[in-house]
Amino acid sequence: MRMTIIRWGQSPLYVCNCNGIREREVRAAIDAGATRPAEVFRHKGCQAQCAKCVCEMRQMIQDSREALAFAAE
Ligand code: FES
Repeated sequence: MRMTIIRWGQSPLYVCNCNGIREREVRAAIDAGATRPAEVFRHKGCQAQCAKCVCEMRQMIQDSREALAFAAE
């Protein structure tokens, strides 16, 4: 199981280098309802180029779901 330490809104790291999408922007898209990487790209008004970032976006979406489920318990 992959563990990720998340500091909301503080990371300057890029998730998607092709489109210049930062981690906090992916989180904002997820908070706005994105449930798939395609919706994250749509939220930012761009499209996948090389798609190397898709796995990380999926993991971030899954982590968010798990955090919400845990919080609801
Ligand atoms: S790194 Fe995101 S499309 Fe290439």
